[in-house]
Amino acid sequence: MAQGKIGILTSGGDSPGMNAAIRAVVRTALASGFECVGILHGYEGLIQQDAVDLQAGSVANMLQRGGTFLKSGRCVAMLQPEGRKKAAEGFKALGLSALVCIGGDGTFRGAEALGKEFGIPCVGLPGTIDNDIYGTDMTIGFDTAVNTALEAIDRIRDTAASHDRLFIVEVMGRESGFIAVDVGLAGGAEAVFTPENYTSIETTIEHIKKGIARGKMSSILVAAEGQNPGRAYDLAEQIRRKSQFEAKVCILGHVQRGGSPTAKDRILASQMGAAAVECLRKGQFGVMIGIQGQNLVTVPLSEPTHKKKTVPKSWMDLADVLST
Ligand code: F6P
Repeated sequence: MAQGKIGILTSGGDSPGMNAAIRAVVRTALASGFECVGILHGYEGLIQQDAVDLQAGSVANMLQRGGTFLKSGRCVAMLQPEGRKKAAEGFKALGLSALVCIGGDGTFRGAEALGKEFGIPCVGLPGTIDNDIYGTDMTIGFDTAVNTALEAIDRIRDTAASHDRLFIVEVMGRESGFIAVDVGLAGGAEAVFTPENYTSIETTIEHIKKGIARGKMSSILVAAEGQNPGRAYDLAEQIRRKSQFEAKVCILGHVQRGGSPTAKDRILASQMGAAAVECLRKGQFGVMIGIQGQNLVTVPLSEPTHKKKTVPKSWMDLADVLST
């Protein structure tokens, strides 16, 4: 595909670096002879034919901005054949030749369906703070979210140490504990709870007691929210019942989704955005751009939509041993 109009959309939970990815797609696409259109509010914008022309100047001053200026959303209509048909009609009405879809596994399920059911050429870019996308070591936004959460943990460590307190800090991560384990490792957490449930309350209590025996009077436990945001309160209650330890709870929530992307996320987004355009130029569709080791790769969309990436148990073991 040498020419045509590329539609760009961001869908699902926003992540820092999405704007940098849009900028990279727009500028490399224009340089390769494509036109660009920004679809607003994710797939909903495709259904409503709500889009804006994008020129090189439209993405000026975007590299450092968090969120997504194209807006995002979780489009339930895309789960139904009727909704996807409307999205395909929108694609046609907007005069598009291809889509670049930035988001997580739900976003890729939409892109995969549009490709299979209507022959729409789609390339995916992994944009989510959760880093839970199979086929890529890193997602756009993860590094920023980890650093945001880590800054909070370091602050909590100060007050926890001053008052000899136990804290449970809840971080985001619905399906997987990548943020939790990275923040736990970097912040020296005494235990990390992930949705994979590797950690038991009893072991954690023993761990805290061992620390106290050697003079460690404050501890921080990091918990991924999993399917139940607010889960940290439940953990605190279980710990209180089983040990009499009183834990303070701090839920970081959506603060982790915002903010200026780190250099790492800006660079990743820029490289992945350019790689998406290169795929379209070569006529390679139905793929997601990933990074494996130092290399950018293309992965069939069927992988992130069907396979699950989970936190390696060895990372949890390392966090555990380092905090004894
Ligand atoms: O984007 C991923 C994520 O931030 C998860 O970590 C979190 O569980 C979820 O989105 C929250 O979604 P929402 O913003 O729709 O409440």
